[in-house]
Amino acid sequence: MSASYLMPTYARQPISFTRGAGSWLYTEDDTPYLDALTGIAVCGLGHCHPTITQAIQEQAATLIHTSNLFGVDWQERAGEALCQAAGMDSVFFANSGAEANEAALKMARLYANNKGFARPKVIVMENSFHGRTLLSVSATANPKAREGFFTLDDDFIRVPFGDVDAVKQAAEQHQDICAILVEPIQGEGGLNTPKNGFTYLEELEAVCDANDWLFMLDEVQTGNGRTGKYFAYQHSNARPDVLTTAKGLGNGFPVGACMVRGRANGLFSAGSHGSTYGGTPLASRVVYSVYQELSNTDVMSNAVTEGDFIRSQVTDALKDYGVSSRGAGMMIGIVLPEHIDCSQLVNRARDEQKLIINVTGGHVIRLLPPLNMTRDESTQVVERLVALLKPTLAQ
Ligand SMILES: Cc1ncc(COP(=O)(O)O)c(C=O)c1O
Repeated sequence: MSASYLMPTYARQPISFTRGAGSWLYTEDDTPYLDALTGIAVCGLGHCHPTITQAIQEQAATLIHTSNLFGVDWQERAGEALCQAAGMDSVFFANSGAEANEAALKMARLYANNKGFARPKVIVMENSFHGRTLLSVSATANPKAREGFFTLDDDFIRVPFGDVDAVKQAAEQHQDICAILVEPIQGEGGLNTPKNGFTYLEELEAVCDANDWLFMLDEVQTGNGRTGKYFAYQHSNARPDVLTTAKGLGNGFPVGACMVRGRANGLFSAGSHGSTYGGTPLASRVVYSVYQELSNTDVMSNAVTEGDFIRSQVTDALKDYGVSSRGAGMMIGIVLPEHIDCSQLVNRARDEQKLIINVTGGHVIRLLPPLNMTRDESTQVVERLVALLKPTLAQ
């Protein structure tokens, strides 16, 4: 590749794709690659889904942007659909996951301000990822993302993921906590699932209720059907006060959302937060179309069936090599023994197997395939992955 004018914020792979359809990406010479990553949990309905493409085309030819100074009918419709799906009272539309979390964290500070706190703190988790704005990166654990940015460390308390006792201990030690922000399953941090499953969320909610903190869920990655429910917390009886999402919300169209209910409802008022682009007619129509597709088809149950299939087939084929799996639905972690060198796996999967994957947490293969993957495609994911891993594991 010739010299690039792009800032080197990503270690890019030496390949680019010119076309996508369903579970497949194509290079300029039309070589197909099976996409088990979907732009990092974004294109849940697959690439260029015909219904979403049609909605984009129609809306782009009708009205793309006015401003939030005016009524936006598609934003009203998308907001109603999303709040009803999540059991929330109201929504703020942003353009990314980081912005959705920035809104949530700002609201937590308003909540604390209303209670007369001088220096509020939010509890966040080890290995968390919440985005790259200054507040959301301060909530993020990854040292590489934080380094040099004078992160707002006094405003957060970090505890181990999955450890409710650590949260209770923090409650005893600090008077000025106003909220918890947590991912139901940690995506970037290693596909970490809490050890007692989603009841962890119920336990966290109980601590929040006992202390009058906001219970805030980051479902930027786990939301929009990825785990087999519209939102991952719906696998439990927990109910968040604040809920953020993005990624699959627009199936590739950039959009994010921060929803609130109950004691968190009404914290923002005119002028206290905003976004020029948040919830344009175009973005909102896409959100509404994705929502319709998820709720009127069997895509979410397919995510469970095919996710379980991939997990069980891969671990079965590699059971002699200490390989295990975790995650839910189409959020799949294949956990390799720690001594295995994973540094070349992404490149080898791409070049040798024409399979797009990701490695996280050092030794966890992260698969985020389209929710509507066919059985034939899931079988191909398994076959290609096993063909890649078996010789490496057998060495
Ligand atoms: C759980 C979680 N929160 C927030 C973000 C940030 O989202 P965005 O990159 O859209 O700002 C991500 C992105 O990976 C994420 O996985």
